[in-house]
Amino acid sequence: MGTMTSIVFLFVCWTIKDNLKIPDTRGKYVFITGCDSGFGNLLAQRLHKKGFSVIAACLTEKGSDELKACTSQNLKTVVLNVTNAESIDNAVTYVAEETGSKGLYGLVNNAGRATPIGPTDWLDMEDFHKVLNVNLIGLIEVTIKFLPLLKKGSGRIVNVASVMGRLAFGGGGYCLSKCGVESFSDSLRRDMQHFGVKVSIIEPGFFKTGVTNLEIIEKDLHRLWNRLTPEIRYAYGDKYFDNYLKVQRLSMKTLCSSDISKVTNCMEHALTARYPRTRYGAGWDAKFFWLPLSYAPAVVADVMLKIMLPQPNGIKNSVAKNQVDV
Ligand SMILES: NC(=O)c1ccc[n+]([C@@H]2O[C@H](COP(=O)([O-])OP(=O)(O)OC[C@H]3O[C@@H](n4cnc5c(N)ncnc54)[C@H](OP(=O)(O)O)[C@@H]3O)[C@@H](O)[C@H]2O)c1
Repeated sequence: MGTMTSIVFLFVCWTIKDNLKIPDTRGKYVFITGCDSGFGNLLAQRLHKKGFSVIAACLTEKGSDELKACTSQNLKTVVLNVTNAESIDNAVTYVAEETGSKGLYGLVNNAGRATPIGPTDWLDMEDFHKVLNVNLIGLIEVTIKFLPLLKKGSGRIVNVASVMGRLAFGGGGYCLSKCGVESFSDSLRRDMQHFGVKVSIIEPGFFKTGVTNLEIIEKDLHRLWNRLTPEIRYAYGDKYFDNYLKVQRLSMKTLCSSDISKVTNCMEHALTARYPRTRYGAGWDAKFFWLPLSYAPAVVADVMLKIMLPQPNGIKNSVAKNQVDV
């Protein structure tokens, strides 16, 4: 067989394997975090339609009521704040009662937040904690506490990371948290394979949802900019903040896809395929730009991002200011 024929043969075999499905979704319990909006909300509705027994965790009562209003009684909701240990314990108790001897088939760790996000020297420790506590520590605590139910159900864990966990830009806890989710999921997958629990990672590019809501991001950026010391603000220069907002608006407008089903399709595959993949890049920008760029030498990514992002006046201004002070 020639090389080309072998490649085609392997691709066909992989495609067939990738398309094999689990025989039945009925009576399989899936627990999803962060279902008030975005990916989690859509996934809950779609799995519910597919016949899964969905338990959708929402951060707020309002989110829970709205989701219940557009689904049937088969979809159950719980209120869950992933940063609160007692709230997680209550959710585990509820799910244990609902699932009984079957155990849990799926856990989708989807809850997350992006702000505060901005240049690193604009941030303090509390800003980092706010994001890390939800996206990483919360995800780990939820996972550990649900593991006995998942082992019982020979279940699957689907962790939502991000392309920003593979290529870090934009300071703050977001990239760190998503990089942590990648690492936690890799070790979890290797540890849990012995117990029949499978782990998949979703790496979405940019999508129009709550975490990319410019109103929320810009409001928080104003808070950060307004509390900067005069020295730091001077080093960035007068025009920097406005340029930053302009570039961010333009790049979000260009990059963010409104078709969030590209992400929920990956989550569904991870739950319904007989052989779920380890990683899913979701969205064209993820597949053809961010993920390939993450494999490139750091200098290539540094130059690309330098071109894309606004430049502070930087050292020139700092030196000038120091000379004036002296
Ligand atoms: N959109 C993107 O471009 C993108 C790209 C890569 C990865 N992601 C990841 O995808 C996941 C889902 O986000 P999304 O894009 O669908 O945005 P979203 O609509 O904001 O969904 C995130 C959900 O998590 C909830 N949440 C926030 N803090 C929580 C907490 N402490 N406990 C429990 N739930 C909490 C939010 O509730 P409230 O709405 O009430 O705050 C919201 O329902 C996140 O992990 C995000 O980081 C998103």
